[in-house]
Amino acid sequence: MTPPPLILGLESSCDDTAAAVLRDRDVLSSVVMGQNSLHADFGGVVPEIAARAHAERLDLCVEQALKEAGVTLREIDAIAVTAGPGLIGGVLSGVMLAKGLATGLNKPLIGVNHLAGHALTPRLTDGLDFPYLMLLVSGGHCQFLVVRGPENFTRLGGTIDDAPGEAFDKTARILGLPQPGGPAVEAEAALGDESRFRLPRPLLDREGCDLSFSGLKTAILRQRDALIAGNGGLTRQDRADLCAGFQAAVRDVLTEKTRRAILLYLAENPANPALAVAGGVAANQALRGALETVCSDTGLIFTAPPLRLCTDNAAMIAYAGSELFALGQTSDMALAARPRWPLDRHAMPLVGSGKKGAKA
Ligand code: KG4
Ligand code: ZN
Repeated sequence: MTPPPLILGLESSCDDTAAAVLRDRDVLSSVVMGQNSLHADFGGVVPEIAARAHAERLDLCVEQALKEAGVTLREIDAIAVTAGPGLIGGVLSGVMLAKGLATGLNKPLIGVNHLAGHALTPRLTDGLDFPYLMLLVSGGHCQFLVVRGPENFTRLGGTIDDAPGEAFDKTARILGLPQPGGPAVEAEAALGDESRFRLPRPLLDREGCDLSFSGLKTAILRQRDALIAGNGGLTRQDRADLCAGFQAAVRDVLTEKTRRAILLYLAENPANPALAVAGGVAANQALRGALETVCSDTGLIFTAPPLRLCTDNAAMIAYAGSELFALGQTSDMALAARPRWPLDRHAMPLVGSGKKGAKA
């Protein structure tokens, strides 16, 4: 029997340069080179800086991934690469390298949707069967998906403006905390009183499972300015209470919308009661705990991949690539880097995402 193919995965769609080697569901190596320090002075990811760093580091990353996996480039059976959605310069860096490797080695090339990588991760980590409900919550994305196959996704709802991770990052910036904001806000929130500032729960009054987070960050800004105007500055406790209030609002909105998504999902898939989360915000303990409660209330199995596979990485791209490869879905040299690439091709663009078209 031939062994399962050895897949090299590449990821460069945002600010993490990553390469991984995978066989079947065995992650032989997963190297992630972050760029936090390169963007720290700018309060967010600068696309040109990110693209340049990816171009400089991708080959080093591949070299390290091969070394850690104990394999040579010649042994690789196929190359999977994020072809979108994401920052175009970074995606292009990855796609160009993958094309070069595929041509030089005469091996198949597989273009992977970054979001499919996140959405299929619970199959890599926990062997979850199709279908399942996925809540994808990261710095760039927020959506509920019914995952039926490696290329079969239905979006039940999503954010109409900011992603939750983006809201955590902006809140951190407003309160003078370091980036990435999620872990910093979570640490402060642990010291705060979530009931002191009553922040809005956006879109809870609207039916369905679309979400909105941009108003929350504005509410934080107003509260901060009111405290500064009234008291001349923020105390450590003010900041902790604002973080706690913000995190509670995100948690409440996400859990209520998850309840609604579960009802919609179960109506069509009663035999597969499973919810999985992915994306960096899934690291948040308050959110995880609340989602676990929703799942036990509604009889769903809850799956949360380990953090290193929840945040951006190339093992998820290699894995999604392996599922496509098994179906014979390879790409050719016409593979394009796509800044926008919705997973559900039939879903309407979300209100508010209209300025630049549907991103995800
Ligand atoms: O999935 P990810 O690594 O990158 C993409 O956005 O695709 O997610 C990064 C995001 C950042 O916005 C970061 O602030 C957020 O995940 N994050 C958290 C936590 N850890 C990371 N948000 C809330 N609580 C956390 N503990
Ligand atoms: Zn991501």
